Amino acid sequence: NCRIIVLFSGNGSNLQAIIDKCHLQGGAEIVAAVSNREDAFGLERAKTAAITTEVLDHKGFDSREAYDQALMALLDNYQPDLLVLAGFMRILTPEFVSHYQGRMLNIHPSLLPKYQGLNTHQRAIDAGDKEHGASVHFVTEELDGGPVALQARVPVFEDDTAEDLAARVHEQEHQIYPLVVSWFAAQRLSMSDGAAILDENRLPPDGYA
Ligand code: GAR
Repeated sequence: NCRIIVLFSGNGSNLQAIIDKCHLQGGAEIVAAVSNREDAFGLERAKTAAITTEVLDHKGFDSREAYDQALMALLDNYQPDLLVLAGFMRILTPEFVSHYQGRMLNIHPSLLPKYQGLNTHQRAIDAGDKEHGASVHFVTEELDGGPVALQARVPVFEDDTAEDLAARVHEQEHQIYPLVVSWFAAQRLSMSDGAAILDENRLPPDGYA
């Protein structure tokens, strides 16, 4: 069994997609749903699915290092095989990242390596891009820089607002993230020498599509 922990800070729609498409299927089990915010709606989603929830609020820690140490201790109690970052809006320390090297995935709302960081939808519109999307990647020390496992592309229309585009990207996120998690759970996907490997094939830097 692949023991999965999903981490999130907000709505948790990607958590929901992973619950619906991966939880207790194909050897995958979400053993905990963890938020840094007690008001995150994802906590309700997890409770509805009878998944154990944990909140570790970053307020009350004087440093990023102290928070990440405490988070690592909490997570390791569950002996996870995979951490799934699903809108977990925190920058992680190098210690945390290296501890979970090769067993931590993230989803980012852009076609990486474009638009690392925040406000990706508005930035794509402002740049006049005709195409935008989302990327699932392994987490490495380079923020939003780890090897991509899968990307989804969406068109950008003339009169799109950032909200329109975000909604279009979200729909795709809900398809690709559960798929990549299921690959990992089936031991079809790994990270080696800084590359994402699917079924023994090294994926191109911009992900399989
Ligand atoms: C998703 O769009 C995800 O790509 C983004 O946060 C959203 C969370 O939505 N992640 C980042 O911006 C990471 N830097 P959700 O809570 O509904 O899953």
